[in-house]
Amino acid sequence: MEVVIVQDAAAGGELIAEGIAALLRRKPDALLGVATGSTPLPIYDALTAKVRSGAVDAARARIAQLDEYVGLPVGHPESYRSTVLRQVVEPLGLDAGAFMGPDGSAEDVQAACEAYDRALVEAGGVDLQILGIGTDGHIGFNEPCSSLASRTRIKTLTEQTRVDNARFFEDDIDQVPHHVITQGIGTILEARHLVLLATGEGKAEAVAQAVEGPVAALVPASALQLHPHATVVVDEAAATKLKLADYFRHTYAHKPAWQGL
Ligand code: PGA
Repeated sequence: MEVVIVQDAAAGGELIAEGIAALLRRKPDALLGVATGSTPLPIYDALTAKVRSGAVDAARARIAQLDEYVGLPVGHPESYRSTVLRQVVEPLGLDAGAFMGPDGSAEDVQAACEAYDRALVEAGGVDLQILGIGTDGHIGFNEPCSSLASRTRIKTLTEQTRVDNARFFEDDIDQVPHHVITQGIGTILEARHLVLLATGEGKAEAVAQAVEGPVAALVPASALQLHPHATVVVDEAAATKLKLADYFRHTYAHKPAWQGL
């Protein structure tokens, strides 16, 4: 696992966007796994700026969703489908055909989950998966004690996550669904490159446990330790509880430039 400490969220967004641009130059039809929430927005802003300036051509990029609420009406603005279309697909100038995600309104949720896992494999697998981390250590919506081998499935959100996400629902926790579909941890680990961005002091404890704690289902993000190409980008505030911060800084400062992200 590589840990990169950056000054702030904008620097993290720029670094990851440049990593995605490098991937798209190598593989123009790369399948990008995207996350929702506030943290990845600087990545999408920086990537959109690169596309608009002509620094990278994303016309053939494909986008895959990480998770979704269950039971929101189709087209609800806070469904993750609507969110990804608004924050990623449209700004990059892609059409909805370039985008795939689980069907949170399916009557047979289990079948929708299995169909999504199959669709990801048939699409050739995710090349680069962007991840955030919950204050409880979740990745996607894999809450604590999710199986490290889990596949895409329905999960019940913790109260903490519903409180954290109420800001997207007029600060009304009653509007936040209890159930979600999320790529499983086993599914996420199949992506070729995992890139987790964490910013702000509120994530410092979860980051320290994920990076320096034991691999444990109790901290789902610790599963990144099992992946051969995992990059954790944290700002100074989210790095405050890392015991090895100086080592991570030193290593990154001396990283051979040809290695990229
Ligand atoms: P956030 O969410 O970026 O809005 O903090 C992260 C997550 O829950 O994975």
